[in-house]
Amino acid sequence: MDLFTFTLQTGEVSVAFSPEPSVTAFGPEGGIYVVDKHTEPLLRRCAGFDPKAPLVSLEPGEDHKSLDSIQKILTAALDASLGRDSLFIGFGGGVITDMAAFAASLYMRGARLELVPTTLLSMVDAAIGGKTGIDFGNAKNCVGTFYPASLIRVSVSYLASLSEAEFRSGLAEVMKTALLYAPKLFQIMQERREHILSRDPDLMLEVVKRCVQAKARVVERDLKESGERMYLNLGHTFGHALESVAGFGRVSHGDAVAWGIGRALNLGLRLGITDPEYLTDVLPVLESYGWCTAPVHPALSGGDRSRELLAAMKNDKKKKGGAVRFILQREMNSTLAQTVSDEDVLAVLS
Ligand SMILES: NC(=O)c1ccc[n+]([C@@H]2O[C@H](COP(=O)([O-])OP(=O)(O)OC[C@H]3O[C@@H](n4cnc5c(N)ncnc54)[C@H](O)[C@@H]3O)[C@@H](O)[C@H]2O)c1
Repeated sequence: MDLFTFTLQTGEVSVAFSPEPSVTAFGPEGGIYVVDKHTEPLLRRCAGFDPKAPLVSLEPGEDHKSLDSIQKILTAALDASLGRDSLFIGFGGGVITDMAAFAASLYMRGARLELVPTTLLSMVDAAIGGKTGIDFGNAKNCVGTFYPASLIRVSVSYLASLSEAEFRSGLAEVMKTALLYAPKLFQIMQERREHILSRDPDLMLEVVKRCVQAKARVVERDLKESGERMYLNLGHTFGHALESVAGFGRVSHGDAVAWGIGRALNLGLRLGITDPEYLTDVLPVLESYGWCTAPVHPALSGGDRSRELLAAMKNDKKKKGGAVRFILQREMNSTLAQTVSDEDVLAVLS
């Protein structure tokens, strides 16, 4: 097993990379597994799995990232008489790791926590960095805590059963990380596309490790998103607006984020911030993965939707109580956040 450790204000986090799927065996303090219906069979095949331990198997998907699910987890933990020293193991994609971590942070004012991310997105992003939460009302992730796991177990073997759409969602986050922090990772994405798309385990291990290390460095410096961590939203302001205007589910999160990265770089170009050569390097790589780089995404039909997209961005931000700050890049590894006039935003959308 290969171990990587980083330190947050809250303590040390270890990330264990191993080819074999495994979970920590519960000690005398006991513990609880949190899975969804898709990841439960994967957990049951893991080394260290205890079939007699309490297990909460939730319905999969964002619709179930709710207080109701948290209640199920907490009730099961209490029914099993678990104490604060017990171990919560969240085993699944970002929905499950966010919820298991949220429940662990609440249970007895903080139980022990291990996360086993099983989607590419959760390996490179959601499980790393301590943000937990659920959706509430009509706002995503608006109720939650900062509660980093002490151990994150990563095995890229889980990627084999992931749907194409889920895999591509994770890949968009990998691309984002590459552009923000990791030129070598960008080079890998550029030169080894076939191997990445075929989910070559050795290469995916290298890709995931590079992403984990990059994100760990960011959250070490800015756990609570007071500054630099907001750069991780590159492509997301445009991407979320596209998901919302096209209608949720019509365009996948990853495809929306990748399109959003292209729009953000074009916005930077228009503002004289982004180096034109950088854009010329990045856009063909986005296109080579099948991501749209045109101003108008094909998921949008029925005339000019640019004003709707702008309204969606403002609405999203209003819920978070601030002005829209766009994440822009001068070039790879050189990022800034700033407000932008409506006119400039509209210009890159039609
Ligand atoms: N905490 C953070 O910092 C952070 C960062 C990014 C995203 N997120 C959150 O992550 C969530 C999205 O995560 P996600 O994309 O992993 O979605 P997800 O958890 O909904 O998983 C996607 C689907 O894949 C299934 N699945 C999971 N692993 C599988 C496997 N190995 N094989 C087959 N199917 C598998 C799941 O059951 C689900 O149906 C969002 O709720 C988002 O808010 C959190």
